[in-house]
Amino acid sequence: MKTRITELLGIRHPIMQGGMHHVGYAELASAVSNAGGLGIITGLTQKTPELLAKEIARCREMTDQPFGVNLTFLPAFTAPPYPEYIRAIIEGGVKVVETAGRNPQAYMPALKAAGIKVIHKCTSVRHALKAEEIGCDAVSVDGFECGGHPGEDDVPNFILLPRAAEELKIPFLASGGMADGRSLVAALAMGADGINMGTRFIATQEAPVHEKVKQAIVAASELDTTLIMRSIRNTERVLMNEGVKRVQAIEREKGAALSINDIMEHVAGVYPKVMNDGDLDAGAWSCGMVAGLIHDVPTCQDLIDRIMAQADQLIRQRLGGMLA
Ligand SMILES: Cc1cc2nc3c(=O)[nH]c(=O)nc-3n(C[C@H](O)[C@H](O)[C@H](O)COP(=O)(O)O)c2cc1C
Repeated sequence: MKTRITELLGIRHPIMQGGMHHVGYAELASAVSNAGGLGIITGLTQKTPELLAKEIARCREMTDQPFGVNLTFLPAFTAPPYPEYIRAIIEGGVKVVETAGRNPQAYMPALKAAGIKVIHKCTSVRHALKAEEIGCDAVSVDGFECGGHPGEDDVPNFILLPRAAEELKIPFLASGGMADGRSLVAALAMGADGINMGTRFIATQEAPVHEKVKQAIVAASELDTTLIMRSIRNTERVLMNEGVKRVQAIEREKGAALSINDIMEHVAGVYPKVMNDGDLDAGAWSCGMVAGLIHDVPTCQDLIDRIMAQADQLIRQRLGGMLA
């Protein structure tokens, strides 16, 4: 399939894997890229820029296809050394960066000078337009259903994607709730040029996370995610578990007076326990409503082949047949 995204990124299929903390290692990124999509290494999961440089080199040994690095600008008490992470990305010869969180304006000159394509992930049309204005090459539009941080506007993709199509000139990916060929065809119909998936890629053979995490996603329905940190405007969609119930109990008790410190132990430092040790109740971890559409743990190759075959069948037969 050829879209503005496959052309921009030099990939065979318009499918991207979003950055995921403690999931987006070289194993997953290379598997997605080898299968014809765009795999993404999560920059800040690597504790130092030197470690990111090593992870990029490791990924390059596993694939000769394009892959990218996610740089997340989140509210942090001590900001990571972003310029040094960017240097590791440039020196590692990476040609695509997925940015998220705050807008990447301060780093655009360095990224563009290195010929890097910047895809900014955002949750509203106004932020997407800002990304376009500051020179991003594409955006990834994350609807309310997405795993991770859906923002504070609560606009689901059935509205957000066509609204993005109405306003944007640069290509965009539909993100949040994407799982299969149906998602891809629907996203293309609404004006997107491809899809970005998080949760779906965790439940794959190559995702280097504990088997219990994959099985929890397979077992979950679309009713099993919930939102935390609304009152401090850092909303996160997570899989319901015992750790999340502890967070929500504190949120109820503190009400409007809640501060991040009240819940810190349940939301920070949780990922290694969940993803490496399989301690699912250790605290809050992101998961999309799309869990309800995930019923197996295929290889990335099988998953992407299946998505493309289903999309082809839907377009040529189901939709084409309706016109006949
Ligand atoms: C476990 C997990 C961790 C994530 N970590 C990050 C992250 O560190 N940075 C980021 O930009 N997005 C992160 N995301 C968001 C994804 O990249 C993607 O935008 C989102 O999962 C799309 O929604 P979906 O899960 O419905 O596919 C994470 C998502 C999940 C499920």
